[in-house]
Amino acid sequence: MTREKPKNLWLSRWGFVLAATGSAVGLGNIWKFPYITGEYGGGAFVLMYLACILAIGIPVMMTEIAIGRRGRGSPIDAISRVVREGGGHPAWKAVGSMAMLAGFMILCFYVVVAGWAFAYTWKMLDGSLAASSVEGLAQVFEAHNANPWALGGWSVLVALLTLWIVGKGVQAGVERAFRWMMPGLAVMLLILVGYAFTSGGFDRGFAFLFSFDTSKLTGEALLAALGHAFFTLSLASGAILTYGSYIPDGQSIVRTSFMVAIIDTCVALLAGLAIFPIIFANGMDPSAGPGLIFMSLPLAFQQMPFGTAFGVLFFAMVSIAALTSAISMIEATVAYLNEKHGVSRTKAAIGSGAVLLTISLLAMLSFNVGADWKLFGTTLFDALDYLTSRWMMPLGGILMSVLAGYCLRAEIMRDELDLPPLGHALWLYMVSYVCPVLILMVFLHALGWLGFDPLQRWYWIAGGIGLLTVLGEALRPRVMPALADR
Ligand code: TRP
Repeated sequence: MTREKPKNLWLSRWGFVLAATGSAVGLGNIWKFPYITGEYGGGAFVLMYLACILAIGIPVMMTEIAIGRRGRGSPIDAISRVVREGGGHPAWKAVGSMAMLAGFMILCFYVVVAGWAFAYTWKMLDGSLAASSVEGLAQVFEAHNANPWALGGWSVLVALLTLWIVGKGVQAGVERAFRWMMPGLAVMLLILVGYAFTSGGFDRGFAFLFSFDTSKLTGEALLAALGHAFFTLSLASGAILTYGSYIPDGQSIVRTSFMVAIIDTCVALLAGLAIFPIIFANGMDPSAGPGLIFMSLPLAFQQMPFGTAFGVLFFAMVSIAALTSAISMIEATVAYLNEKHGVSRTKAAIGSGAVLLTISLLAMLSFNVGADWKLFGTTLFDALDYLTSRWMMPLGGILMSVLAGYCLRAEIMRDELDLPPLGHALWLYMVSYVCPVLILMVFLHALGWLGFDPLQRWYWIAGGIGLLTVLGEALRPRVMPALADR
């Protein structure tokens, strides 16, 4: 069968890298990574997070981009086409639907957090962060959240900006904004790390991030690390797959995936190095939760020379980083409506925007009026985060790995990834055995079905991977004769 012709392609060779990095680098790196690292106790969590990026995130990212480029379309269409070409049941496209839904659900709470960053850019300017203590800043943060008009107004602003850019089209709207934003963000982070170095808390901050305590290696923390690895790389949610579908043939998927993952990880670690020293130097609690960066960094800005200017720039950068991520979350839905139902991009953006605004305003109310409205025992805001990071993304990742590792004809991934034989074998090993076993164990533990903590008994994981390897290698040629050639 002939391959689908690409309709949209990135404007330049760097288009995908810029856009995928823009998607990957966002609030996940600057806001979520520091606060969950704080909650899970530091170094042990960082170690598990790095392991998840390397062992699961990068192989899954390569798989997603390859499927996107091969199928040239929104997650649902791309998976359908790849399955039609390469074998596998048409029902696999449900993975695409789940991914799109996950991206959309994430966006519903993401715009609220992005709204914080926008609001703080403004607050830096108008002096309302001039409170000189951590307590004062905590009060500012609480007061901001208690007021549904302020919180909602900023969320709506972010949602509208996102929809406007997506409506115009990613290549025009997104690619250009990314060019100067990424270097700018890197410079700002380096300045902050430089300040943190002189803050008097650098040793403790550094030790908190990089020295670990084996008792903190728990299955619960591993689940969080795994979910965060998916979140921070924008995986299993349609974003990377859809952006991948705009990559020209012939560009290296492997090199690009590593580049995006490395930049993303560096930004998260730099954010940690900027934030934790300031927290320790000011006697704050690293496990303060979602408000962590909003209560610590403004304090640092007040104390440094030209602090207001740096503060405005910093929060503006975070806002833009959040915006470029937000765009990627809804891109899959807009691409799908546009391609499948012939709706123009603008109309698709308006239609999905109406749903987005409704749900995100409900999520925003979790911080004030709706604090008592519970879904799965938590507020709507937390439920959206929890369901997507803990369940939908890891599940999507496992399914995508199984699709590529077991169901598609071998040559499809071989063509797309274009790796040397040893590299290909390693990728295949990761997606066929390591990713499924690790993700499954973490899941079973979270459901309470495992009865033990997989990390305290790591030999179960090793044994599981070993067993699956033996079984898989023995059965694969029999069950799936088309695969015998790998
Ligand atoms: N990776 C982004 C961040 O770290 C968030 C993000 C963008 C995302 N697109 C996504 C998360 C799609 C999940 C799904 O902030």
